[in-house]
Amino acid sequence: MTSVTQGIDVDVSELVNELDEAGEERLYQSLKHFWHPVMFADELGDDPHGVILLDQTLAIARLNGKVHAFYDLCMHRGAAISLGEVEDGCIRCPYHGWKYDATGQCVEIPSRPQLTRLPHAKLTPFLCEERYGIIWVSLTDTPYFDIPELHQWDDPQFRFMRGPVTEWKCASPRRLENYVDFGHFSWVHDGYLGSRESPEVIDHDVSMEDGEMRVHQTVHEPVTGKFKAHLGSAGEMITAQNHYRVFLPHAVNLDRHFDGGGRYILFMAPSPVGRKQTRSFWYIGRNYATEPEYDAEFLDFELQILEQDKPIVESQRPEQLPLDLTKELHIKVADKISLNYRRALIRIADELAPTTEEG
Ligand code: FES
Ligand SMILES: [Fe+2]
Repeated sequence: MTSVTQGIDVDVSELVNELDEAGEERLYQSLKHFWHPVMFADELGDDPHGVILLDQTLAIARLNGKVHAFYDLCMHRGAAISLGEVEDGCIRCPYHGWKYDATGQCVEIPSRPQLTRLPHAKLTPFLCEERYGIIWVSLTDTPYFDIPELHQWDDPQFRFMRGPVTEWKCASPRRLENYVDFGHFSWVHDGYLGSRESPEVIDHDVSMEDGEMRVHQTVHEPVTGKFKAHLGSAGEMITAQNHYRVFLPHAVNLDRHFDGGGRYILFMAPSPVGRKQTRSFWYIGRNYATEPEYDAEFLDFELQILEQDKPIVESQRPEQLPLDLTKELHIKVADKISLNYRRALIRIADELAPTTEEG
């Protein structure tokens, strides 16, 4: 079928009405089947720390050297155990002192010492891992894919630095889509990542396999910000080969290969706090100008980019990414990635949170 909705430059007929608002809610529900970042590992001190992921309050704690995540609720009177203390590899609740071990089992009730290991006195644990200096949590025991890859992390040629966690009032898929929306570079980031004088998006390769969307594009950008001067570029423009790896549902590893061998990594992993709130964890990596004294230049550049993006993304309506592809207008080439991305999200929602209703 090749009917084209008025104003739409791309045939989306096979997906018409495939996911309406109920479908978008199913997508949100399906996000619990994936690993998500919740905090930087070195920000976890000796005591538990409370975070919110997908509207769930969680207590994160390091017990006997390993990070753990629990539903942030004491089984006695529902106090937040994230307000408690770590003691002998256990968490002690702040209210009446019940003590829970690393499996979540209550092992001590101070007001009635003879009671130990009550079968129902157990915190709800979740999968929790530490990787790339970030603590990741999966709210289901069998996450659909592995933790997103920052495969350059252990490569000694790169210096990695992290940016401050961003808090955006948007749905997490909107955050990712902004990151790979090539059409906005020359517009929102005029003079930084492109120019309004040459706004046309150059065609690029997009492929999808095993939960990963790969995109390759050659870009010619203004030499803006001191950091590109480190690349030895003499002219006003510089060329880069951009390799994106998008790990579904929404982490991304961008590996930029500049002329002359300079490489620049941008890794970003959004954490869906709620339907309209996203915290994003990100790193910059570079194999040139690796002296720490240059860190601020790189960070400042990316912070300016984020400041340009934030009000635009937070203004988008509806806040959830519409997966009924007829609800927004799509342009060939320029919106190629987002169409592929939305189709992948539709498949995720259909598989992990199938509708139970007829038709
Ligand atoms: S609420 Fe936690 S010990 Fe009472
Ligand atoms: Fe942007």
